[in-house]
Amino acid sequence: MMKLSVAIVCALVAAAALVIGGEPAAASELKVGYYGKTCKGVENVIKWHVIKALKQNRRTGAALVRLLFHDCFVRVRSYACDRAHQIMLHTYCSKQFDVVGINGGFEQCAQGCDGSVLLDKSYENPHPEKEAPVNIGLAAFDLLEEIKAAVEKRCPGVVSCSDILIYAARDAGSILSNGHVHFDVPAGRLDGFVSSADEAQRELPDSTMTVQQLADNFAAKGFDTEQLVILSGAHSIGAGHCSSFTGRLSEPPQQIVPAYRDLLNYKCSQGANPDVVNNVRDEEYATVARFMPGFTSRVRKISDFLDNTYYHNNLAKIVTFHSDWQLLTNQTSLDKVHEYANNGTLWDEDFSDSLLRLSKLPMPEGSKGEIRKKCSVSNHFQY
Ligand code: HEM
Repeated sequence: MMKLSVAIVCALVAAAALVIGGEPAAASELKVGYYGKTCKGVENVIKWHVIKALKQNRRTGAALVRLLFHDCFVRVRSYACDRAHQIMLHTYCSKQFDVVGINGGFEQCAQGCDGSVLLDKSYENPHPEKEAPVNIGLAAFDLLEEIKAAVEKRCPGVVSCSDILIYAARDAGSILSNGHVHFDVPAGRLDGFVSSADEAQRELPDSTMTVQQLADNFAAKGFDTEQLVILSGAHSIGAGHCSSFTGRLSEPPQQIVPAYRDLLNYKCSQGANPDVVNNVRDEEYATVARFMPGFTSRVRKISDFLDNTYYHNNLAKIVTFHSDWQLLTNQTSLDKVHEYANNGTLWDEDFSDSLLRLSKLPMPEGSKGEIRKKCSVSNHFQY
């Protein structure tokens, strides 16, 4: 069954290469105001929808910021195929993507911010990125589909889902930080064709990683340890499932404050793998009063405020993920944690720059893509 579906995917991907695809702009060719003539006002349309969604639920903004990261950080290999299909895929990959090497029968097709995380599973692709365990909790897909529909109505076939995602995540970051996080989005991306759960699992960092593993993971995409620390600051917003921090529930006091560990244990006992807010100040007042009474004054009425509190929380050993705490165990990252804890304005600026940098993770020159009609489905798979 598995072999059959892989063969189907291979055949369809190879066939698709013959009938579809345009050349996306290289990272250096992305342009601010790209849709100025072809879809005037599109950025305002997107912002309007994001503002509306965040008025209802600010957590959606956290989901958008995470989606940007999870879309851009995955570089997808093609599927393993039999020899005949490999030859077809070689043609496909060398035309559609940068072929960065053949590895044990797999051919690598480099990608970046291409909206591949938005693709739903289908008969042709039963295991897209969304299915990867590391992608647990991804959300805001409906909002992006709503925005895409509005944009399609205004200017059909012009604006890619990958660009919509970056615009929406940028707007969310700006709203959640009261405008402190902001940047102009260069656009002109196309939507990719390939989306693989295996690759997402292989490429995205895991919350059980050591600081060295995290640094290596980021370095593989051209991000240094400083940028790892800067981007991790996104964990001042949003939430995580208990299964994402199981190890933290029994870590020693040098790694997690026992009162916070008790709070997490309590929250996790309240359901089957519930999610728990990343920032203790977003927790319900009564729960904080019970477990960490000294923190009640920090509890906020408005949740999910994107700022440098992550660094304060990290130094106080009240962060959710093991990977967050790991940043204290290496001198370079520890120095950066201190620096951003002490300088919120600097973090706002550096986080904006790093998100922009993330958003430019390359769609390689010479690769091909499309403007999807719906963000969850490739056009050539729409019957
Ligand atoms: C450094 C490595 C990173 C690891 C290991 C990591 C891991 C995680 C995990 C396990 C979750 C919770 C998922 C769940 O259980 O539902 C999460 C949530 C989140 N992450 Fe990360 N993350 C990392 C970096 C980043 C970066 C670079 C960003 C964005 C720039 C980011 C933004 C977020 C946000 C906003 C949430 C909350 C999402 C929501 O509430 O919907 N993370 N992360």
